[in-house]
Amino acid sequence: MICVDEDPALEAAPRWLGKAFAPAQVPPTDGDLRLIGPMQLATSGARVLRRHRLRAPDVPCVVLTPDDAELELVRACFREGAADVLSLSEAPGELAVCIRRTLDARALERRDREDTAALAAELGKRARELQEMVTQVRLAYDHTLGALVAALDLREEATANHSARVALYALMLGLRAGIDDSGTLRDLYHGSLLHDIGKIGIPDAVLLKPGELSDPEWEIMRGHAKLGGDMLDGIAFLRGARDVPLYHHEAWAGGGYPHGLEADQIPVSARIFAAVDSYDAIRSWRPYKPEHTYSDAVPMLHRVAGRRLDPGMVELFLDQAPESWDWLAGAATEAQTFGDAMAACRECMARGGRSVGK
Ligand SMILES: [Fe+2]
Repeated sequence: MICVDEDPALEAAPRWLGKAFAPAQVPPTDGDLRLIGPMQLATSGARVLRRHRLRAPDVPCVVLTPDDAELELVRACFREGAADVLSLSEAPGELAVCIRRTLDARALERRDREDTAALAAELGKRARELQEMVTQVRLAYDHTLGALVAALDLREEATANHSARVALYALMLGLRAGIDDSGTLRDLYHGSLLHDIGKIGIPDAVLLKPGELSDPEWEIMRGHAKLGGDMLDGIAFLRGARDVPLYHHEAWAGGGYPHGLEADQIPVSARIFAAVDSYDAIRSWRPYKPEHTYSDAVPMLHRVAGRRLDPGMVELFLDQAPESWDWLAGAATEAQTFGDAMAACRECMARGGRSVGK
Protein backbone atom coordinates (compact mmCIF):
# COMPACT_ATOMS: atom_id res chain seq x y z
CA MET A 1 0.00 0.00 0.00
CA ILE A 2 1.24 3.44 -0.92
CA CYS A 3 0.44 6.01 1.75
CA VAL A 4 -0.05 9.39 0.06
CA ASP A 5 0.09 12.57 2.19
CA GLU A 6 -2.94 14.84 2.05
CA ASP A 7 -1.73 17.53 -0.31
CA PRO A 8 -3.58 19.25 -3.22
CA ALA A 9 -0.45 18.82 -5.31
CA LEU A 10 -0.79 15.04 -4.95
CA GLU A 11 -4.38 14.77 -6.12
CA ALA A 12 -3.21 13.30 -9.43
CA ALA A 13 -1.17 10.62 -7.60
CA PRO A 14 -3.61 7.74 -8.40
CA ARG A 15 -3.17 8.47 -12.11
CA TRP A 16 0.62 8.72 -11.87
CA LEU A 17 0.85 5.49 -9.90
CA GLY A 18 -1.33 3.50 -12.31
CA LYS A 19 -3.01 0.21 -11.49
CA ALA A 20 0.03 -1.39 -9.89
CA PHE A 21 0.09 0.93 -6.85
CA ALA A 22 -3.27 1.90 -5.40
CA PRO A 23 -2.91 4.80 -2.93
CA ALA A 24 -4.43 4.09 0.47
CA GLN A 25 -5.57 6.25 3.33
CA VAL A 26 -3.56 4.52 6.06
CA PRO A 27 -1.16 5.90 8.65
CA PRO A 28 2.44 6.06 7.37
CA THR A 29 3.41 3.29 9.80
CA ASP A 30 1.05 0.83 8.05
CA GLY A 31 2.07 1.43 4.43
CA ASP A 32 4.74 -0.14 2.26
CA LEU A 33 5.90 3.32 1.17
CA ARG A 34 5.00 6.95 1.93
CA LEU A 35 4.67 9.66 -0.66
CA ILE A 36 5.47 13.11 0.74
CA GLY A 37 4.30 16.16 -1.17
CA PRO A 38 5.40 19.83 -1.45
CA MET A 39 2.96 21.02 1.23
CA GLN A 40 4.69 19.06 4.02
CA LEU A 41 8.07 20.25 2.76
CA ALA A 42 6.89 23.87 2.78
CA THR A 43 5.73 23.49 6.39
CA SER A 44 8.55 21.42 7.93
CA GLY A 45 11.32 21.19 5.35
CA ALA A 46 13.36 17.98 5.40
CA ARG A 47 12.52 17.56 9.12
CA VAL A 48 9.34 15.76 8.01
CA LEU A 49 11.59 12.88 6.94
CA ARG A 50 13.39 12.77 10.31
CA ARG A 51 10.06 12.61 12.14
CA HIS A 52 8.85 9.89 9.79
CA ARG A 53 12.05 7.87 10.34
CA LEU A 54 11.47 7.92 14.08
CA ARG A 55 7.87 6.73 13.75
CA ALA A 56 8.24 4.25 10.88
CA PRO A 57 11.91 3.44 10.26
CA ASP A 58 11.06 0.50 7.97
CA VAL A 59 8.74 2.43 5.64
CA PRO A 60 10.69 4.18 2.84
CA CYS A 61 9.72 7.67 1.63
CA VAL A 62 9.62 9.16 -1.84
CA VAL A 63 9.45 12.98 -1.89
CA LEU A 64 7.83 15.12 -4.57
CA THR A 65 9.24 18.67 -4.55
CA PRO A 66 8.02 21.79 -6.36
CA ASP A 67 9.74 22.24 -9.70
CA ASP A 68 11.59 25.28 -8.41
CA ALA A 69 12.88 23.57 -5.25
CA GLU A 70 16.38 24.59 -4.12
CA LEU A 71 19.10 21.99 -4.63
CA GLU A 72 19.93 22.28 -0.92
CA LEU A 73 16.39 21.11 -0.03
CA VAL A 74 16.80 18.05 -2.26
CA ARG A 75 20.15 17.27 -0.61
CA ALA A 76 18.61 17.70 2.85
CA CYS A 77 15.85 15.22 1.91
CA PHE A 78 18.42 12.60 0.92
CA ARG A 79 20.45 13.30 4.10
CA GLU A 80 17.33 12.68 6.17
CA GLY A 81 16.74 9.32 4.52
CA ALA A 82 14.54 9.90 1.45
CA ALA A 83 14.66 6.84 -0.77
CA ASP A 84 14.22 9.10 -3.80
CA VAL A 85 13.28 12.68 -4.68
CA LEU A 86 11.36 13.75 -7.81
CA SER A 87 10.00 17.10 -8.98
CA LEU A 88 6.25 17.39 -9.63
CA SER A 89 6.81 17.69 -13.38
CA GLU A 90 8.74 14.39 -13.37
CA ALA A 91 6.00 12.58 -11.44
CA PRO A 92 3.66 11.60 -14.32
CA GLY A 93 6.38 9.69 -16.17
CA GLU A 94 8.73 8.65 -13.36
CA LEU A 95 6.82 8.12 -10.13
CA ALA A 96 5.61 4.55 -10.77
CA VAL A 97 9.10 3.46 -11.89
CA CYS A 98 10.69 5.17 -8.91
CA ILE A 99 8.32 3.46 -6.48
CA ARG A 100 8.87 0.04 -8.06
CA ARG A 101 12.66 0.55 -7.75
CA THR A 102 12.38 1.62 -4.10
CA LEU A 103 10.11 -1.26 -3.10
CA ASP A 104 12.32 -3.80 -4.91
CA ALA A 105 15.42 -2.46 -3.14
CA ARG A 106 13.63 -2.64 0.24
CA ALA A 107 12.50 -6.22 -0.42
CA LEU A 108 16.09 -7.17 -1.30
CA GLU A 109 17.44 -5.54 1.89
CA ARG A 110 14.81 -7.34 3.98
CA ARG A 111 15.69 -10.69 2.40
CA ASP A 112 19.39 -10.02 3.03
CA ARG A 113 18.67 -9.21 6.68
CA GLU A 114 16.57 -12.37 7.08
CA ASP A 115 19.24 -14.49 5.36
CA THR A 116 21.96 -13.00 7.59
CA ALA A 117 19.90 -13.62 10.73
CA ALA A 118 19.17 -17.22 9.64
CA LEU A 119 22.87 -17.76 8.88
CA ALA A 120 23.90 -16.36 12.28
CA ALA A 121 21.38 -18.63 14.02
CA GLU A 122 22.63 -21.65 12.06
CA LEU A 123 26.27 -20.78 12.82
CA GLY A 124 25.46 -20.41 16.52
CA LYS A 125 23.73 -23.81 16.49
CA ARG A 126 26.68 -25.45 14.71
CA ALA A 127 29.16 -23.82 17.11
CA ARG A 128 27.23 -25.23 20.09
CA GLU A 129 27.12 -28.67 18.46
CA LEU A 130 30.86 -28.51 17.76
CA GLN A 131 31.60 -27.48 21.36
CA GLU A 132 29.52 -30.41 22.60
CA MET A 133 31.40 -32.78 20.27
CA VAL A 134 34.76 -31.43 21.50
CA THR A 135 33.63 -32.02 25.09
CA GLN A 136 32.54 -35.56 24.24
CA VAL A 137 35.80 -36.32 22.41
CA ARG A 138 37.82 -34.97 25.35
CA LEU A 139 35.83 -37.12 27.75
CA ALA A 140 36.38 -40.14 25.52
CA TYR A 141 40.13 -39.40 25.45
CA ASP A 142 40.20 -39.01 29.22
CA HIS A 143 38.37 -42.30 29.80
CA THR A 144 40.66 -44.08 27.33
CA LEU A 145 43.74 -42.66 29.04
CA GLY A 146 42.35 -43.69 32.42
CA ALA A 147 41.95 -47.29 31.21
CA LEU A 148 45.45 -47.30 29.73
CA VAL A 149 47.00 -45.90 32.90
CA ALA A 150 45.15 -48.40 35.10
CA ALA A 151 46.52 -51.19 32.88
CA LEU A 152 50.04 -49.76 33.20
CA ASP A 153 49.79 -49.52 36.97
CA LEU A 154 48.50 -53.09 37.13
CA ARG A 155 51.55 -54.31 35.25
CA GLU A 156 53.64 -53.19 38.21
CA GLU A 157 51.41 -54.44 40.97
CA ALA A 158 53.16 -52.39 43.65
CA THR A 159 52.19 -49.12 42.01
CA ALA A 160 48.40 -49.55 41.84
CA ASN A 161 46.65 -46.18 41.52
CA HIS A 162 50.04 -44.45 41.73
CA SER A 163 49.59 -42.65 38.40
CA ALA A 164 46.16 -41.22 39.25
CA ARG A 165 47.51 -40.01 42.60
CA VAL A 166 50.64 -38.32 41.27
CA ALA A 167 48.66 -36.73 38.42
CA LEU A 168 46.30 -35.16 40.94
CA TYR A 169 49.18 -34.09 43.21
CA ALA A 170 51.00 -32.59 40.19
CA LEU A 171 47.89 -30.65 39.14
CA MET A 172 47.54 -29.28 42.67
CA LEU A 173 51.20 -28.30 42.87
CA GLY A 174 50.97 -26.75 39.39
CA LEU A 175 48.04 -24.60 40.57
CA ARG A 176 49.98 -23.66 43.71
CA ALA A 177 52.96 -22.75 41.49
CA GLY A 178 50.73 -20.21 39.73
CA ILE A 179 50.03 -22.04 36.48
CA ASP A 180 46.62 -20.81 35.39
CA ASP A 181 46.47 -21.68 31.70
CA SER A 182 44.05 -24.57 31.32
CA GLY A 183 45.96 -26.05 28.34
CA THR A 184 49.21 -26.12 30.35
CA LEU A 185 47.42 -27.64 33.35
CA ARG A 186 45.79 -30.26 31.12
CA ASP A 187 49.21 -31.17 29.66
CA LEU A 188 50.70 -31.39 33.16
CA TYR A 189 47.88 -33.68 34.29
CA HIS A 190 48.01 -35.95 31.24
CA GLY A 191 51.83 -36.01 31.21
CA SER A 192 51.82 -37.01 34.89
CA LEU A 193 49.23 -39.73 34.32
CA LEU A 194 51.39 -41.11 31.51
CA HIS A 195 54.81 -40.40 33.03
CA ASP A 196 55.91 -44.03 32.76
CA ILE A 197 54.09 -44.87 29.51
CA GLY A 198 57.53 -45.66 28.03
CA LYS A 199 57.69 -48.72 30.30
CA ILE A 200 55.38 -50.41 27.80
CA GLY A 201 58.53 -50.83 25.74
CA ILE A 202 60.60 -52.33 28.58
CA PRO A 203 60.71 -56.15 28.60
CA ASP A 204 59.10 -57.84 31.63
CA ALA A 205 62.42 -59.57 32.32
CA VAL A 206 63.87 -56.15 33.14
CA LEU A 207 60.81 -54.24 34.40
CA LEU A 208 59.64 -56.99 36.77
CA LYS A 209 63.02 -58.46 37.70
CA PRO A 210 62.94 -59.14 41.43
CA GLY A 211 66.64 -58.67 42.06
CA GLU A 212 69.21 -55.97 41.29
CA LEU A 213 69.44 -54.79 37.69
CA SER A 214 72.75 -55.16 35.89
CA ASP A 215 74.28 -52.09 34.20
CA PRO A 216 72.96 -53.07 30.73
CA GLU A 217 69.54 -53.71 32.27
CA TRP A 218 69.59 -50.25 33.89
CA GLU A 219 70.45 -48.82 30.49
CA ILE A 220 67.34 -50.49 29.06
CA MET A 221 65.23 -49.30 32.00
CA ARG A 222 66.41 -45.69 31.61
CA GLY A 223 65.27 -45.83 28.00
CA HIS A 224 61.63 -45.57 29.18
CA ALA A 225 61.90 -41.78 29.52
CA LYS A 226 62.86 -41.13 25.89
CA LEU A 227 60.50 -43.87 24.74
CA GLY A 228 57.60 -42.22 26.61
CA GLY A 229 58.44 -38.77 25.20
CA ASP A 230 58.58 -40.15 21.66
CA MET A 231 55.27 -41.96 22.10
CA LEU A 232 53.42 -38.81 23.19
CA ASP A 233 55.17 -36.77 20.49
CA GLY A 234 53.42 -38.98 17.96
CA ILE A 235 49.91 -38.26 19.32
CA ALA A 236 48.67 -34.76 18.47
CA PHE A 237 46.31 -34.66 21.47
CA LEU A 238 49.14 -35.50 23.88
CA ARG A 239 52.11 -33.77 22.26
CA GLY A 240 52.05 -30.94 24.82
CA ALA A 241 52.20 -33.52 27.62
CA ARG A 242 55.47 -35.10 26.47
CA ASP A 243 57.75 -33.09 28.80
CA VAL A 244 56.77 -35.05 31.90
CA PRO A 245 57.52 -38.54 30.54
CA LEU A 246 60.64 -37.29 28.75
CA TYR A 247 62.22 -35.28 31.58
CA HIS A 248 60.85 -36.77 34.81
CA HIS A 249 64.18 -38.44 35.63
CA GLU A 250 66.31 -35.34 35.10
CA ALA A 251 67.87 -34.00 38.32
CA TRP A 252 67.96 -30.39 39.57
CA ALA A 253 71.75 -30.58 40.19
CA GLY A 254 72.35 -32.45 36.91
CA GLY A 255 73.29 -36.07 36.37
CA GLY A 256 69.78 -37.29 35.51
CA TYR A 257 68.62 -38.81 32.26
CA PRO A 258 68.02 -38.84 29.31
CA HIS A 259 69.73 -35.47 28.63
CA GLY A 260 71.51 -34.56 31.87
CA LEU A 261 69.74 -31.18 32.09
CA GLU A 262 69.91 -29.11 35.27
CA ALA A 263 67.84 -26.53 37.19
CA ASP A 264 65.69 -24.31 34.96
CA GLN A 265 66.75 -26.23 31.85
CA ILE A 266 64.32 -28.88 33.03
CA PRO A 267 60.75 -28.00 32.00
CA VAL A 268 58.69 -26.86 34.98
CA SER A 269 56.09 -29.59 34.47
CA ALA A 270 58.78 -32.26 34.90
CA ARG A 271 60.14 -30.51 38.05
CA ILE A 272 56.64 -30.36 39.54
CA PHE A 273 56.07 -33.99 38.71
CA ALA A 274 59.44 -35.16 40.09
CA ALA A 275 58.62 -33.58 43.50
CA VAL A 276 55.21 -35.23 43.85
CA ASP A 277 56.45 -38.54 42.41
CA SER A 278 59.21 -38.68 45.06
CA TYR A 279 56.68 -37.94 47.80
CA ASP A 280 54.33 -40.68 46.58
CA ALA A 281 57.20 -43.17 46.31
CA ILE A 282 58.26 -42.40 49.91
CA ARG A 283 54.70 -42.84 51.22
CA SER A 284 54.05 -46.07 49.26
CA TRP A 285 55.01 -49.64 50.06
CA ARG A 286 57.37 -51.26 47.59
CA PRO A 287 58.74 -54.82 47.60
CA TYR A 288 62.12 -53.38 48.58
CA LYS A 289 60.96 -50.76 51.16
CA PRO A 290 58.24 -50.03 53.68
CA GLU A 291 55.74 -47.19 53.37
CA HIS A 292 56.59 -44.08 55.38
CA THR A 293 54.52 -41.49 57.21
CA TYR A 294 54.22 -37.84 56.16
CA SER A 295 56.55 -36.91 59.05
CA ASP A 296 59.17 -39.34 57.73
CA ALA A 297 58.74 -37.93 54.23
CA VAL A 298 59.52 -34.30 55.20
CA PRO A 299 63.25 -34.80 56.04
CA MET A 300 63.61 -37.27 53.19
CA LEU A 301 62.34 -34.66 50.71
CA HIS A 302 64.57 -32.00 52.26
CA ARG A 303 67.57 -34.29 51.74
CA VAL A 304 66.97 -34.51 47.97
CA ALA A 305 65.80 -30.89 47.47
CA GLY A 306 68.47 -29.06 45.48
CA ARG A 307 70.04 -32.35 44.42
CA ARG A 308 67.48 -34.43 42.58
CA LEU A 309 64.47 -32.16 43.11
CA ASP A 310 63.77 -28.46 42.48
CA PRO A 311 64.04 -26.97 46.01
CA GLY A 312 61.36 -24.40 45.20
CA MET A 313 58.88 -27.14 44.30
CA VAL A 314 59.69 -29.10 47.45
CA GLU A 315 59.13 -25.99 49.54
CA LEU A 316 55.83 -25.29 47.81
CA PHE A 317 54.78 -28.91 48.30
CA LEU A 318 55.56 -28.86 52.02
CA ASP A 319 53.86 -25.47 52.36
CA GLN A 320 50.56 -27.23 51.71
CA ALA A 321 48.87 -28.75 54.77
CA PRO A 322 49.65 -32.51 54.97
CA GLU A 323 45.94 -33.35 55.15
CA SER A 324 45.52 -31.86 51.65
CA TRP A 325 47.73 -34.54 50.13
CA ASP A 326 45.91 -37.28 52.04
CA TRP A 327 42.57 -35.88 50.90
CA LEU A 328 43.77 -35.75 47.28
CA ALA A 329 45.06 -39.34 47.52
CA GLY A 330 41.49 -40.39 48.39
CA ALA A 331 40.00 -38.21 45.63
CA ALA A 332 42.35 -39.76 43.05
CA THR A 333 40.38 -43.01 43.15
CA GLU A 334 37.31 -41.11 41.90
CA ALA A 335 38.85 -38.61 39.45
CA GLN A 336 38.29 -40.04 35.97
CA THR A 337 38.95 -36.97 33.84
CA PHE A 338 40.90 -33.70 33.81
CA GLY A 339 37.66 -31.93 34.71
CA ASP A 340 37.20 -34.22 37.73
CA ALA A 341 40.79 -33.59 38.78
CA MET A 342 40.41 -29.80 38.53
CA ALA A 343 37.21 -29.98 40.58
CA ALA A 344 39.00 -32.05 43.23
CA CYS A 345 41.88 -29.51 43.44
CA ARG A 346 39.43 -26.61 43.74
CA GLU A 347 37.55 -28.40 46.50
CA CYS A 348 40.81 -29.16 48.28
CA MET A 349 41.78 -25.49 48.10
CA ALA A 350 38.35 -24.43 49.33
CA ARG A 351 38.82 -26.66 52.37
CA GLY A 352 41.86 -24.58 53.29
CA GLY A 353 45.14 -26.32 53.44
CA ARG A 354 47.86 -23.84 54.17
CA SER A 355 50.65 -25.35 56.15
CA VAL A 356 50.74 -25.37 59.91
CA GLY A 357 52.35 -22.17 61.15
CA LYS A 358 51.61 -20.10 58.00
FE1 LIG B 1 59.87 -43.23 35.32
